[in-house]
Amino acid sequence: MKDTGIINKRGKLPKVVDFKVEKGKVEYKLLPPYGISIEDFQNKFDKLEQSLNGEVKLLKEGSFIVLKVNKNPIPDYVEFEYISLPPGEVILGYSRDGPFKLRFSDEYPHMLVGGTTGSGKSVFLRQLIVQLLLSGNVDLYLIDLKFGVEFSVFRNSRYVKEYAENEDDAFRVMLTIKELTYKRFDELKKSNAVNTEEYYMKPVFVIVDEFRNIMENKRLKSLFEELLRICRAVNIHFIIATQRPDKDTVPGSLKANIAMTCAFRTRDAVNSRILLENDRAASIQIPGRFIFQFKDDIEMQSPFLSVERARLLIKDTFVVKREKLSGVLDLANGEGYEDYSLY
Ligand SMILES: Nc1ncnc2c1ncn2[C@@H]1O[C@H](COP(=O)(O)OP(=O)(O)O)[C@@H](O)[C@H]1O
Ligand SMILES: [Mg+2]
Repeated sequence: MKDTGIINKRGKLPKVVDFKVEKGKVEYKLLPPYGISIEDFQNKFDKLEQSLNGEVKLLKEGSFIVLKVNKNPIPDYVEFEYISLPPGEVILGYSRDGPFKLRFSDEYPHMLVGGTTGSGKSVFLRQLIVQLLLSGNVDLYLIDLKFGVEFSVFRNSRYVKEYAENEDDAFRVMLTIKELTYKRFDELKKSNAVNTEEYYMKPVFVIVDEFRNIMENKRLKSLFEELLRICRAVNIHFIIATQRPDKDTVPGSLKANIAMTCAFRTRDAVNSRILLENDRAASIQIPGRFIFQFKDDIEMQSPFLSVERARLLIKDTFVVKREKLSGVLDLANGEGYEDYSLY
């Protein structure tokens, strides 16, 4: 506490009144001296984590402050392994507490992924897409504005409804999503249900690699921002990635509609602050390491998955296209697809 600077004007330190140790976790119950509040702890948060050498959680319990320190290590490397979960649920990564399960919901509908080149975004999206495809009963819309190379391995999966690799296709995909959103609103209204917990709707994911291009295109940007606002209520989720999380690509208006952020290593502290409102992502050293921010900040390791292994894992979901299709919109209904299983 002294090193961290949590000390009052008279040189008095917080007093440890109780502590517990359990499975690599230490919990301290502290009585702060006069003039020291939980804000003083929050202001010194980074230093506190450094000197306690673990992930720290702060809670207020009456006049006490409870400091929970998790000293379990985060693995530096994890090989991807599929764990079967219900549609729309994924293992986001491996934290100090092991695999971290996440369900996309109307409270936490969309996800922003940011980090500099080589930080691990594409590998992260790849293993996320594989998990979604293997869970079955989901519809995926992939928008790959980096020449369509990253996601091409997925384009023949029967759960991938549309695949866009340029801005015109991306615009059409978003119009399809808008149509679907309003169709679902109608369905909800007719069913008299309040939300998708009461009235099941198949989870839909729109995954965009390099959405900077979208933000730079006026007509795309406004449709995109509209969708982020409206589609959360009908089980439609956006997962969007950028290598340049600056204030033009990630303006406050966008952040306001995205409740979850995965921050991989950023180029500098400014980019980190745009993602997390703190500097932590700038000091990440390991590829695949990220900070997941939703309620708290949780540091995790994304599992590694190569393109070759991804292809093997999902090959049972491939379809053979009967004929070449002209418009992207036809694909939305699965028209023109014949479900020839490879076996
Ligand atoms: N989860 C991971 N575990 C181990 N290595 C990784 C991981 N993610 C990425 N890498 C390494 O970093 C390289 C770049 O990753 P990539 O996902 O393409 O970065 P980005 O899309 O952010 O530019 C990969 O080729 C791989 O060597
Ligand atoms: Mg990439």
